Amino acid sequence: MSFKKYTLLAIAFFSAQSLCNAQNTASLTLTGGTNLTISKHIYGQFAEHLGHGIYGGFWVDKNLPVAKQDRIRLDVVNALKQIKIPNLRWPGGCFADEYHWRDGIGPSDQRPRMVNTNWGGVTEDNSFGTHEFLSLCSLLGCEPYFAANVGSGTVEEMSKWIEYVNSNSNSTIAGLRGLNGHPDPYKVTFWGIGNESWGCGGNMTPEFYADQFKRYAAFAKDYPGAPLKKIASGPNSDDYNWTSVIMKNIPSWMMWGISLHYYTVPTGNWGHKGSATSFTENEYFETMQRCLKMEELVTKHSTIMDQYDPEKKVALVVDEWGVWTDPEPGTNPGFLYQQNSMRDALIAATNLNIFNNHCDRVRGAALAQTINVLQSLILTNNDKMLLTPTYHVFDMYKVHQDAKYLALKLNVPNYQVGNNTIPAINVSASQDASGKIHISLVNLDLHNDISIRTTLAELNWKTVKGQILTSANITDINTFEKPDKLHLAKFTGAKKEGDKLVVLIPKKSVVTLELE
Ligand code: AHR
Repeated sequence: MSFKKYTLLAIAFFSAQSLCNAQNTASLTLTGGTNLTISKHIYGQFAEHLGHGIYGGFWVDKNLPVAKQDRIRLDVVNALKQIKIPNLRWPGGCFADEYHWRDGIGPSDQRPRMVNTNWGGVTEDNSFGTHEFLSLCSLLGCEPYFAANVGSGTVEEMSKWIEYVNSNSNSTIAGLRGLNGHPDPYKVTFWGIGNESWGCGGNMTPEFYADQFKRYAAFAKDYPGAPLKKIASGPNSDDYNWTSVIMKNIPSWMMWGISLHYYTVPTGNWGHKGSATSFTENEYFETMQRCLKMEELVTKHSTIMDQYDPEKKVALVVDEWGVWTDPEPGTNPGFLYQQNSMRDALIAATNLNIFNNHCDRVRGAALAQTINVLQSLILTNNDKMLLTPTYHVFDMYKVHQDAKYLALKLNVPNYQVGNNTIPAINVSASQDASGKIHISLVNLDLHNDISIRTTLAELNWKTVKGQILTSANITDINTFEKPDKLHLAKFTGAKKEGDKLVVLIPKKSVVTLELE
């Protein structure tokens, strides 16, 4: 080959390389100095009387051969303690607005039976009620988050429920709690006033709901040691008018938070949502586009809230989120049982990054729904139990709970499919009370590893270590036969170069780094 030809080829090769490098390179700058905390309540969970979430999930047959306290399954409890779940929302969902708490107290065999009209029309025996739920929360070491019935209940019913669990008086209702085995008040502070009041919770207009909220909230009383955090039923997805009307009509002193519900539905079509385990790259890409809509929703709802509440006193509580696919073939469609893949881990991590990065307003959230329902952390099958890829994300991300938020500037390549693009990388970071810095990075690109150079202004560190979740295929899942196919592994792709942190983040992976 002539020298000239070689030189031209070499130039072409190196230009292609640098183009490729430019495409596969990201930069990140982290700064200390914010006064914002990432509330641990962003890492909350949701457990509804739905399918095998409560019955057959947390609360099992007394003859099931697993360790139990009463009928609460302890392998599940221990797994959830490991990821430090901060709160548990209960009893629904749509179920909350047909739940009458008095049916779920007293001797179990005398409790009335009801039909769960929302979820499969099954008969509910009310064996899991207020005391059982609060025992579960105590075992988990998490705060209970009650959703009160506004749709088919009354102000009196909700008001007495609060008195029943929180009052330290010698009123008849507080005394009944003692007779049922718990003389000390439980001090439950999180109370949702209705659920999806625009839909299954009563098909209300926002104006009507705002009036209802004020009426219910007026009779939701504080008892000693239990100042209530009242959470209004908020918008469905991008219903910005709902947020506007609620914020305009309910004073900020009356509500601690307003909820937001948004699910990632892979096809965007509620009639045919898409499979949990079998999807193409195009379908994966569309799902991630829908997942990233959470950023837009949180930003726009926050902007509306800023107009009425510039001091950000009212929290945005995303208390139902996650991927919602078609149910697993052969299961009861009303039970919403779905498998959980590597894709769903990327969805979880991306949503958590969004919430962390909006921690000035997002001060609570709940994944839907903990066990055996929708995007679960845990699946059970009789005495067997498995941890889903989503569980492992919550395990990695627990380091951000109540840590100081670190502001970031991010410049990332796009992930392109056809003519469409999304940012390939998303990130959030925090510093814990001991000074350790944690950075969580997600690479959504299915083909390219991406190198990130990070500048940490005003932050001192010497060493870096990390954990990674990834798998050969985006559709990979944990099964009862192979429960550890997807698991956390040690991450070795990060190093210190001068004062920079350089990380090679593999395609379709979630990484959390710890810098000391
Ligand atoms: O999480 C399942 C259902 O989704 C909940 O019951 C309801 O609030 C929402 O529509």
